[in-house]
Amino acid sequence: MQLHTDRILFGGDYNPEQWPEEVWEEDMRLFHLAHISEVTLNVFSWALLQPSEDTYDFHELDRIMELARREHLKVILATSTAAQPAWMSARHPQTNRTDAHEQQHHFGGRQNICPTSPIFRHFAGRLVEKLAARYAGFDNLVAYHLSNEYGGYCYCEHCQAAYRDWLRRRYGTIENLNRAWNTTFWGHRFYDFSEIRIPDYLTEEFDYGTAGALRTNVQANSIDYRRFMTDCTIDLVEMEKTAIRKYSDLPITTNLMYNFDGYDLAKIARHLDFVSWDSYPAYGDAASNTALWHDLMRGIGGGQSFSLMEQTPSVTNWHPYCRLKRPGIMRLGSYQAVAHGADTVLFFQLRRSRGACEKYHGALIDHVGNEHTRVFQEMTELGAELEKLGGTLLAAKSRARAAILFDWDSWWGTALSAGPSVLISYLEEIQTWYRALWQLHIPVDLLPVDAVLGNPDREVSAIRDPQAENPEGAAALAAYDLVFAPMLYLDKNGFSDALHRYVAQGGHFVTSYFSGYADDTDLVRLGGYPASWKDLLGVWVEESDALPPDVENHFSYNGVRHACHILCDLMHPLDDTVEILGAYEEDFYRNMPVVTRHPFGKGACWYVGTRSDEAFYRAFVSDVCRESGIAPLAEAPLEVEVTRRENENGVFLFLLNHSDAPQELALPVGGTDLLTGTSYRKGETLHLAPAQVVILSQQDK
Ligand code: GLA
Ligand code: ZN
Repeated sequence: MQLHTDRILFGGDYNPEQWPEEVWEEDMRLFHLAHISEVTLNVFSWALLQPSEDTYDFHELDRIMELARREHLKVILATSTAAQPAWMSARHPQTNRTDAHEQQHHFGGRQNICPTSPIFRHFAGRLVEKLAARYAGFDNLVAYHLSNEYGGYCYCEHCQAAYRDWLRRRYGTIENLNRAWNTTFWGHRFYDFSEIRIPDYLTEEFDYGTAGALRTNVQANSIDYRRFMTDCTIDLVEMEKTAIRKYSDLPITTNLMYNFDGYDLAKIARHLDFVSWDSYPAYGDAASNTALWHDLMRGIGGGQSFSLMEQTPSVTNWHPYCRLKRPGIMRLGSYQAVAHGADTVLFFQLRRSRGACEKYHGALIDHVGNEHTRVFQEMTELGAELEKLGGTLLAAKSRARAAILFDWDSWWGTALSAGPSVLISYLEEIQTWYRALWQLHIPVDLLPVDAVLGNPDREVSAIRDPQAENPEGAAALAAYDLVFAPMLYLDKNGFSDALHRYVAQGGHFVTSYFSGYADDTDLVRLGGYPASWKDLLGVWVEESDALPPDVENHFSYNGVRHACHILCDLMHPLDDTVEILGAYEEDFYRNMPVVTRHPFGKGACWYVGTRSDEAFYRAFVSDVCRESGIAPLAEAPLEVEVTRRENENGVFLFLLNHSDAPQELALPVGGTDLLTGTSYRKGETLHLAPAQVVILSQQDK
């Protein structure tokens, strides 16, 4: 199910309950000036809605909902369960979260809940049901928004017991668990599930090194715990959905937060009608990193449009240096979201609050309280443009022929790994490969590994048969001519079979160091890394040398010398069909391969055994794309972002200048810019001012 609107919604979090009613009327005047079409209501109102255990008070929310209806504003209604009322925390301390030091918290903050607490669930479910029943008749309601940025873990005794039950369901017997976790190590053998505790600071986990990275003694336990917490969050999602579904068929979402690595968002997304997320790039962040998150959100939503639920109009309050978004940057970021598949451009927040920690967070209406601000003017201009665009771009799809696989389990596995290097970073590895595709203007889908592993959903958690054949997984891969799997550390059961079928039938596969090492529970797959993919890659890795930050090795690719960082795999070709595209130039492993290509069946596989520099990835990715028959959308400067989207209204080429300088390019197609009405011929030079956006409605589909 999708969000149904007839235009790109423009609005965001609105908290009139923080203000006297006179202010509401002024808000409405200002909203209309700014072309606001949507308000996200009730995000943190539980304490107002329920003054005590047995009393509810909806009269203020009724008035706010009426106001929105009167003003023809679409409403996304939040369930407000991200922060329980203080009375609940005090009377039922077990609803409060217990931290990794096994300290139970008191009232305070938000997402301070125990996800397995039956009392919390009881009250939350009851509240959501009342909300859904009460506002079912509001025809300006377009979606429900569960909680707010689900996040964090709980370590209370209730969660401990729930975790043991979860493990029992996953492993069946304690012997299976002992085997999967390799518990003979350090005398960890369990004889009963009741002996197991959640990994935390009193058990298996500890901070490591000056950067305070989290480490664990038993990776399998720590990874399972994260899967368990994901499932607990899914239970909360399902609990609220069930309550809503008694009264409403409207689409349901929750705002996911970028860089949150705590839960497997791909699994949670399967339980949402549409995906939405909050984008908060800091000043100076690479535009390609934001693009990556947009694509990942589209990917976990199965390729459907997603919703940009929050971004700041100007500043956050929580970046170390809250630099202003420069003129034009808020607009640029908004169109970037649309360029990647967003059907809404929403903000946190519409009116800046007066007190507490977000009072200096950007908003449409600032503390000065009127429309005469830079931010208000910029928002107004964007609001007018989006109103004019109407529904033209809605539900437009990307038709990428390249994919990057993304796997939260591998993110956890690499982050928690003791060795080979503290510099190993899953996200940075993904960003590195993504950036090359972005700079080359080659569209890519971020494909969750779950999509290749059938329908794991909650059974993920159950271990699949290692021998299972997976032709459906191969079909999911076969939607692409080229699949990248950077640092896909866990080679989960079923994946290798799908991969073999895909490549044998003509697929192209690229992977990098620290990939395919271990199985679902982080047991190393034996026989030389990456054991199950050796025949595909035509190489096996014997050792890996971690390079401290000040040490480099080098190799040449196509006659150009590139640097090696982080890790150097020492690998051996398995046969003479392996092409060595680059070899180390220094150290005792000089002349050993670092970049290879190997034909397999009708397809081919590439392996890059190190982290190199940007220029290498551009050269290399460009070559493998060419060999896979994938052409760039345009020949354009590096900092001009190019995406293509299509729907029944046409084919649209987005061109966004992310640099501070004017840029130009020869247009690959002719068409009309939806924003200015200017028509361009194919081959004509397009001049893009800094932060300029062109959305070309293509002549030739
Ligand atoms: C988040 C939250 C909002 C608000 C903003 C501030 O992403 O969802 O409630 O706190 O951050 O940037
Ligand atoms: Zn708990």
